[in-house]
Amino acid sequence: MSEKESGDKHSPGEVLLHNLFRLIQVVKIHQSNNRLFADIVAAFKAALAGYWATGRPAAFILYRGRFFLNDERIVFSPSMWTTSVKMSEFFQERSLSGLKFEINEEVTDQAIVSLVDFLNKAKRFPEPFEWLRSQLSEDLAWVVPTKEDDSTLPGGGSSQTAGGGRQVAVRPEAQSELKRQARQIYSQGLTVMRTLVTRLDEGKKVGIQKAKRVVQELIDLMSEDMRLYLALSTIRDHGDQIFTHSLNVAVLSIALAWKVGYSKVGLEQLGLIALFHDLGKTGDFLAAVDKPDTLEGHDLAVVQNHPLGSIARIIRLNAGYNLKLSMLHPVGEHHLGLDLTGYPKTKRTRPLTLGGRILAVADQYDAMTSWRPWRAEPLSPSMAIQTMVEISGRSLDPLVVRLFVEMMGPWPVGSILVLDSRELALTEAVLPGEGPYPPAFTLLKNEDGTVSRGPKLDLSGASGDKRRIVGDLNPAAYGLQPADYLL
Ligand SMILES: [Fe+2]
Ligand SMILES: [Fe+2]
Repeated sequence: MSEKESGDKHSPGEVLLHNLFRLIQVVKIHQSNNRLFADIVAAFKAALAGYWATGRPAAFILYRGRFFLNDERIVFSPSMWTTSVKMSEFFQERSLSGLKFEINEEVTDQAIVSLVDFLNKAKRFPEPFEWLRSQLSEDLAWVVPTKEDDSTLPGGGSSQTAGGGRQVAVRPEAQSELKRQARQIYSQGLTVMRTLVTRLDEGKKVGIQKAKRVVQELIDLMSEDMRLYLALSTIRDHGDQIFTHSLNVAVLSIALAWKVGYSKVGLEQLGLIALFHDLGKTGDFLAAVDKPDTLEGHDLAVVQNHPLGSIARIIRLNAGYNLKLSMLHPVGEHHLGLDLTGYPKTKRTRPLTLGGRILAVADQYDAMTSWRPWRAEPLSPSMAIQTMVEISGRSLDPLVVRLFVEMMGPWPVGSILVLDSRELALTEAVLPGEGPYPPAFTLLKNEDGTVSRGPKLDLSGASGDKRRIVGDLNPAAYGLQPADYLL
């Protein structure tokens, strides 16, 4: 769904930024006398004039990966996430921390066309910010850019005082701050799950407030930066396998449920369901799957009944009745196929809940791409996607799988691509509307055997890069944690 069609009500900051984003995109394709281009220039001018009518200039600031318009943080609605991420990247590539549009009643179409042209071209110069600033004179003097390490706000305020004490000065490493927060949310999630399970094992009462907080923070991160958010799902940890699995399934389920159209409350509920879906994997389960023999008898029953064990533990949690009730069906269903085969065996004829179908897709993807004691090697992300497409219909819901494939693309985030140039590349997450080719960067092998992040690639071929994908490898088999390079 395009942002225009979404029907969301947008704030002035969203409208302005979105119009600037559209201009930047369209100027690459069309001449300035093109009708569509002229319409978008007019829309941007109208949005600026509308904002200036409040008596204030429009000063955008990018701080720690978040956009502010003057002092107000812009909270992006889901349909604007792509704009927010793309504009954040656009600013960073030009060392821009802010862009201020001073009130000017004589802005011409030509000035806007020149501005967008300069903004786009700036990236090609070794000092993009300095080059851009040198171009913004005469009829563009009303546009004031600020650099990442400037300590002064575009509006002239002090870094310490703007926003009634809130520090909104722009510092470098905005993206790395968001990455740090993402890692922190994830490791907090691991700690919360570890503590929750330990207390359950000890027969103690356990509340879910902290787990709820983790889910809310995950949802906030998703609305902030979808690319970074999905990168969390590439974390793999052998030692903490059940907890990382629970976190990854929560990350993927929330994103998939968002794509399905869940409300914020629904996303929170499903996030908790995903965190708790394998609570029944207790010591007996681990002992059974660790045996080298084929599973049978008691061990097989232990493994197949773990969803029932999860239900029993959810019932014991100190949480609201209705919330717990909403968790039981999806958790009980997460190993049942659409045809109701799978486990635990059931005589039911009622179809699976939507939550159960979403959970099953996220669960299978993470399981297929992770090490498991009973399997020689995990599948590569693209192989897992292919396998899920093959088993959809019988086992997985085909519509949910289709949405999942749309979300992850054929080369999901964290894939190691083998290129025809004999180079290896690592993929980042694809954002809605970006097409099948994920952003990627090459992996450089250092002399000491370590691997580091190389230059960015455009695998779509649009920028003339001729390199093509010939296959992919499982990162674990190659000894890499994609998250180390993405987060
Ligand atoms: Fe399970
Ligand atoms: Fe699971």
